[in-house]
Amino acid sequence: MAAADRDPTEPWWKAAVVYQIYPRSFADADGDGVGDLQGIRSKLPHLEWLGVDALWLSPFYRSPMADFGYDVSDYCDVDPIFGTLADFDELVADAHARGIRVIVDWVPNHTSDQHPWFVESRSSRESAKRDWYVWRDRTPDGAPPNNWVQTWTDGEPAWTVDPQTDQWYLHLFLPEQPDLNWRNPEVRAAMADVLRFWLDRGVDGFRMDVLHALGKDPDLADDPAELIPIPHSALNHHESTHEIVRELRSVLEEYDGDRMMVAEIFLLDTELVASYYDGGAGVHLAFNFPPLFAPWAARPWAVRIDEVARMIEPQGWPSWVLSNHDQPRHRTRYGSEARARAAAVLLLGLKGTPFLYAGEELGLEDAVVPEDRVVDPGGRDGCRAPIPWTVEGDHGWGRAEGLDTPWLPWPPDAAERSAEALRADEGSILHLYRRLLAARRASTALRLGDQAMVDAPDDVLAWDRTGAGGDRRRVIVNFGSSTVDVSTLVEGWAVEVASADGALGTDGALAADAAVLLRPT
Ligand code: NOJ
Repeated sequence: MAAADRDPTEPWWKAAVVYQIYPRSFADADGDGVGDLQGIRSKLPHLEWLGVDALWLSPFYRSPMADFGYDVSDYCDVDPIFGTLADFDELVADAHARGIRVIVDWVPNHTSDQHPWFVESRSSRESAKRDWYVWRDRTPDGAPPNNWVQTWTDGEPAWTVDPQTDQWYLHLFLPEQPDLNWRNPEVRAAMADVLRFWLDRGVDGFRMDVLHALGKDPDLADDPAELIPIPHSALNHHESTHEIVRELRSVLEEYDGDRMMVAEIFLLDTELVASYYDGGAGVHLAFNFPPLFAPWAARPWAVRIDEVARMIEPQGWPSWVLSNHDQPRHRTRYGSEARARAAAVLLLGLKGTPFLYAGEELGLEDAVVPEDRVVDPGGRDGCRAPIPWTVEGDHGWGRAEGLDTPWLPWPPDAAERSAEALRADEGSILHLYRRLLAARRASTALRLGDQAMVDAPDDVLAWDRTGAGGDRRRVIVNFGSSTVDVSTLVEGWAVEVASADGALGTDGALAADAAVLLRPT
């Protein structure tokens, strides 16, 4: 059944499972050691087999790559390292033909310092684009305009003096990533046109980078001293952002087909994240990162699940994510494959739209990156290791002459964890993900149903999902390191998917670090 026919009255993104692709690391069609759009296209049959509904592509736009694409120098073109606009069109057409939607990353807070807008802005204080960025005069004491700090540094100011015009410019990230001035209507119009450029090309939506940071305090007031050491926790979050979000939403609504936005709100506070839904007028989905930072333990997860129900649900539809290109993979954080498997049942059993990060379905760990191969200014190379596709040789990555490795080292056990090896093994974590995705597709309770927690022993969380037509599922996760008797919880239920073979004994004992998805008997 086509996705659109499964839930005709609901927007597609509520029931979808979204799969994040970091293009540099996914698949390499031209053998230069960096992944590309044709590489992604060549893996669509595999992604269809896996059963994902949508792809989110991290940036593939023209970029000097100071932040590997999150520093954009042309929002409306593909960087030659990834291919061409024609490759992009082919990728979208092929994905759509397979019933897979495509959302792209939009980086509105800052451009590259090589973007023609910034080149013009910095050229003179009188430039027509001067006010497109945030410039401030130098003061006699030499101090930066305020106490805002630059990400990935130990308190370096978020300001750099540009020698050409002897003024400070603002950059919440690298000096090569100057912040746009979203108070300027010309900036808003130009960036709305970027959205239209991609909407016209048929994309189904956008992942919006650091959306909470767009609205800046007009006075650029100092951040409260006690908050400065907490990265992004309440900083760079200003009321005026909500108006911008509503405007962006109206751009999407110029188009048919439920085009959507999912916002990166990197505020480690679920109540603040919820505010960006704006009761239905704001974002369609927001990433809520506190669960990603929760340890593998029942109590912290119970708190996070409860917060989402209380704070997000009254405003909109939740989303769930355990890994992405900015954080150590959850397989690495949680420390074992058993936990990564149980986490898959957790993620795909919760109410909300799940986001998978390419490679988690292979149970990949972060690569260990030797010092001489570190390339990321933010220390995130490990989770960006290339995906191993085949067992032998270069794991499916071509090798141009003179090149002996892709742009980053392989993750541990690349041969054993390659897609080829795990596809041949029905018991693998890859097949577990596939079974879970198939179970979601087949169950309205899992896709769209309500959620109610069920009393469970210590170390265990259990909940019911109830959907249209009385469809029901139960999920039980044992976060503990001992077997737990859950016999009372499984009466009247049968295992639909287990995190590992024999996870639930016939005596009702659920193994350590194991989880089951149950359907009524
Ligand atoms: C969040 C992105 O996920 C990250 O990779 C990037 O470095 C920053 N935003 C800056 O764009």
